[in-house]
Amino acid sequence: MQNKIEEISALIKACGAFIKEADRSCLQIDEKAGHANFVTEYDKKVEKRLKDGLLQIIPEAKFIGEEGEGVRFSEKGMYFIVDPIDGTTNFIKDYHNSCISVALITDGEATLAFVYNPYLDELFTAQKGMGAYCNGTQIHVSRQPLENGVVLFGTSPYHEELNEASFQMAYDYFKKALDIRRSGSAALDLCSVAAGRAELYFELCLSPWDHAAGGLIVKEAGGIVTDIDGNPVRYDMPCSVLARNQ
Ligand code: IPD
Ligand code: CA
Ligand code: CA
Repeated sequence: MQNKIEEISALIKACGAFIKEADRSCLQIDEKAGHANFVTEYDKKVEKRLKDGLLQIIPEAKFIGEEGEGVRFSEKGMYFIVDPIDGTTNFIKDYHNSCISVALITDGEATLAFVYNPYLDELFTAQKGMGAYCNGTQIHVSRQPLENGVVLFGTSPYHEELNEASFQMAYDYFKKALDIRRSGSAALDLCSVAAGRAELYFELCLSPWDHAAGGLIVKEAGGIVTDIDGNPVRYDMPCSVLARNQ
């Protein structure tokens, strides 16, 4: 498995360099369903490159990517669940806070996770039962209580019906914690909780490719990941996500 982890890491880093060096002079941007939901030529090209590369490394796995279609998740077997660019709006705005997110789900459980931020050259990785790492150094969630904590949240931007509830919840946490942040990348928010840079993250509706990798990284860093009602997160459909230290 170690060889495969190294091959996957190298593939993801190469794709990250491609994102970082994107030719932004005539970026082709299309709209998808939902409010302000965009896809660029880079989301599509990176997904294709990841699909080809990952299926060469683990040919028995199936591939589910945000920009692809056709493959349905099942509790049996191996699935790559991939977001080629998490933080597409940030990417369009040249905001330098986007990442590649790759999870391997085996018989319904996340077993490998990679989240790569090419702007900081930070590769977060986790293997089930083996801890979580950032660039090879083990990471842990913080021990700070909420009142000394920073709370991250996502606005579920593509689901307008959740806007009010999201901001109400953010306001409630703002009153209880030191402050709140909204970064524009769910996967990087999860890694921030894993690395002890923030204490809690929530979002009321995420797709599996947004949280599958980051969720395993939080758990392997000693944190807790559920939906907002305390149930396990899902890989077969969207769900809410609440990640926190102990
Ligand atoms: C989005 C980002 C954002 C979160 C959205 C996600 P995308 O992913 O992670 O932070 O609030 O819910 O959909 O569309 O940039 O890959
Ligand atoms: Ca995403
Ligand atoms: Ca995406």
